[in-house]
Amino acid sequence: GSRAYSPSGTDSQGMFAPCLKFHFSLCTFCLCCEVEGQNLAADNVSVIEGETATISCRVKNNDDSVIQLLNPNRQTIYFKDVRPLKDSRFQLVNFSDNELRVSLSNVSLSDEGRYVCQLYTDPPQEAYADITVLVPPGSPIIESREDVVSEGNETELTCTAMGSKPAASIRWMKGEEELTGETTVEEIDERLFAVTSRVRFSVTKEDDGVSVDCIIDHPAVKDLLAQRHLEVLYKPEVKIVVTYPEGLTREGDNLDLSCIAEGKPHPHQINWMRVEEDVPPHAVVTGSDLYIENLNKSYNGTYRCVASNAVGEAYDDYILYVYDAPTTIPTPTTNPVNTQDSRAGEGAPQKIDHAVIGGVVAVVMFAILCALIVLGRYFARHKGTYFTHEAKGADDAADADTAIINAEGGHNNTDEKKEYYI
Ligand SMILES: *[C@@H]1O[C@H](CO)[C@@H](O)[C@H](O)[C@H]1NC(C)=O
Ligand SMILES: *[C@@H]1O[C@H](CO)[C@@H](O)[C@H](O)[C@H]1NC(C)=O
Ligand SMILES: *[C@@H]1O[C@H](CO)[C@@H](O)[C@H](O)[C@H]1NC(C)=O
Ligand SMILES: *[C@@H]1O[C@H](CO)[C@@H](O)[C@H](O)[C@H]1NC(C)=O
Repeated sequence: GSRAYSPSGTDSQGMFAPCLKFHFSLCTFCLCCEVEGQNLAADNVSVIEGETATISCRVKNNDDSVIQLLNPNRQTIYFKDVRPLKDSRFQLVNFSDNELRVSLSNVSLSDEGRYVCQLYTDPPQEAYADITVLVPPGSPIIESREDVVSEGNETELTCTAMGSKPAASIRWMKGEEELTGETTVEEIDERLFAVTSRVRFSVTKEDDGVSVDCIIDHPAVKDLLAQRHLEVLYKPEVKIVVTYPEGLTREGDNLDLSCIAEGKPHPHQINWMRVEEDVPPHAVVTGSDLYIENLNKSYNGTYRCVASNAVGEAYDDYILYVYDAPTTIPTPTTNPVNTQDSRAGEGAPQKIDHAVIGGVVAVVMFAILCALIVLGRYFARHKGTYFTHEAKGADDAADADTAIINAEGGHNNTDEKKEYYI
């Protein structure tokens, strides 16, 4: 009989078999007696308010003893398969020698308590089923201290989950980042709780449009959250772009600078100025553009675009450095547009003197050569119109016959020209 002995007592199939065997042989083990005492079993139940709870009284080894189910006030709900209690929310789901199973629909908080399964043995046995009713919180509500925040300032959000049992817990997420809130739990009713969580943080420009989630964790709900999008005001970001010229800024050239300023709210004012000096009197400011005609070395200096909005102001600088007017074909070595400093090509003018003569000679020679080639081709074509057309036909043709046809076809096009030259 030792084979089936299960000290843990969890093997539901083998639980009663070893006891019988022990009784017949040398049964003095207390475990057996306890196992026999657990003949009747019931489980605790958690149920969401308004839903249905099922209470099951299970009997192993039943010898025709009567089962009944009592409510927490020890009134009989079911006696065998008969319901003396008037509450029709209780319904028999299954009644057999081994089980009395009863459902309770539309559960309310007042149904909570310890239900009793009774077996009329001698002595009678009892097993207990504790019903716990969960009440989900209402939709969470986020409130913020202010609708819009300026960058660098602190904002405060409050999230409330009302009337839950047990108390809900609240988590905060700002985008992908978890925030730590300060939670207060308040008992609003006999068993219901209101939970409030508050977060405080300072915002950056990047927080504009980011969502802040108040996430409710509660056993009766899934995926319950409230969301709020941050609206952050920030001062302008300013960038000067050289629209013209593309290369070096030379005396006599025109200069066209664009100021690109973005902010929230949109910059209401964009100003051009020259650091420590006056802007040349004929400079024209159109919207966010600065236009200076006929550059002069005396215009060297730092030109600044200042943009401002309700949050603050910001600027970008452009350093103008006026080079000598081009005496030859300019050979810019770098692109000063990217560096925001037109001095990038400094030193180039001295080298030009020697390179110039060679360059000019080379260009002239090249031009003459080109002219000769063009002239030569021109005369050759007029002399040999017929032959060149024949050659063209031959090139395209698959065989000699088509070559001739092609060549003849070509005559039609050239007849006019031939007549003209004859
Ligand atoms: C009642 O329970 C018995 C044993 O657990 C099972 O065989 C039977 O199918 C059940 N009947 C219903 C209606 O659930
Ligand atoms: C559920 O019970 C509540 C009271 O606890 C009652 O007001 C409601 O009408 C009931 N609902 C149903 C569907 O029986
Ligand atoms: C540049 O300006 C100075 C006075 O500001 C003037 O004397 C000079 O002629 C100007 N140069 C050119 C190329 O316009
Ligand atoms: C402006 O820059 C040129 C170099 O291109 C220099 O020769 C000139 O002296 C500078 N003028 C002033 C007023 O700084």
